[in-house]
Amino acid sequence: MSKIILTGDRPTGRLHVGHYVGSLRRRVEIQNSGDFDSMYVMIADAQALTDNAENPEKIRTNIIEVMLDYLSCGIDPEKITVFIQSQVPELCELAFYYMNLVTVSRLQRNPTVKNEIQMRNFEASIPVGFFNYPISQAADITAFKANIVPVGEDQLPMIEQTNEIVRKFNSVYGETLVEAKAVLPEKKACLRLPGTDGKAKMSKSLGNCIYLADTPEEVKARVMSMFTDPDHIKITDPGKLEGNTVFTYLDAFATDEHFKEFLPEYANLDELKAHYTRGGLGDMKVKKFLNAVLQSTLEPIRARRKTYEKDIPAVYEMLKRGSVKAEEVAAKTAESVRAAMRINYFTDEELIKAHTEKYRS
Ligand code: TRP
Repeated sequence: MSKIILTGDRPTGRLHVGHYVGSLRRRVEIQNSGDFDSMYVMIADAQALTDNAENPEKIRTNIIEVMLDYLSCGIDPEKITVFIQSQVPELCELAFYYMNLVTVSRLQRNPTVKNEIQMRNFEASIPVGFFNYPISQAADITAFKANIVPVGEDQLPMIEQTNEIVRKFNSVYGETLVEAKAVLPEKKACLRLPGTDGKAKMSKSLGNCIYLADTPEEVKARVMSMFTDPDHIKITDPGKLEGNTVFTYLDAFATDEHFKEFLPEYANLDELKAHYTRGGLGDMKVKKFLNAVLQSTLEPIRARRKTYEKDIPAVYEMLKRGSVKAEEVAAKTAESVRAAMRINYFTDEELIKAHTEKYRS
């Protein structure tokens, strides 16, 4: 079976370390392994507008920020297709037809949408476009016949909904669309990296984010103020790992090589954890290590960003080329969808012939 990979991000802000361990790092690995037939990364501006309709400037500005973050992490538009969702109008077309295959109550049951409606205080007045975005996401995925979608846990209901649409479409109109499989990060810590304050949600307004483009000083300040174990007061106290943000970040970022380089007294994270739980290991030492790990991870990312920042027109050009390429693919799928739905009036010779016959007699 061919391997077609698609992922996307909403351009509502710069990308942070949660995006990195949750998806970006893996995408670059897959990209560089070459183990796929085609791979797409989409900047989901149209989806971002579903709950930012009155603030298009925010989305517009963040497209380039997200693209710069991609490039600085090693996403290479020569190897894969990076594109902007709104520049592929076929996605709207597909979504429009898929809407007929989904009920309102099914959308209401989508746990991610339910959650987001609550978070945005939309209960009394949900924009239709927002309510509908799982269907639009099904269009994103199926337009490229993507069968592998690396995402975070919160996106599982979207893939499920996509596959229901695929099955429904195929059963009504004939085998046309392809089902997708979600791929989650392997490590639990990478599924949803908490904010530096230990809160589940990383957000700009909470000030608990480490952005990929943050300066070394900003990163260090966030690490040093990170939430640990509030009962671990004296160094000799035994420490708890559960809910200890510093260790969650180490789970997500630290490798044995990092230990060799920055903390050779320990062979690996298990040894460090054992010492911490036993007592006798201070938070400061662990934080200093985490800071070293993060700085060495983010340093090359920051440096690459600086290079791309110097030629913004070239970055827009990459997005333009990717969008043109993406549209070519989506247009083919849209054509086969129209044919399956029998709304391909002008390319269906049988139709014209049949109606000619009808009026001849
Ligand atoms: N909903 C995804 C998010 O919020 C973004 C997205 C849009 C996406 N379309 C997609 C992800 C298609 C994977 C596949 O992060």
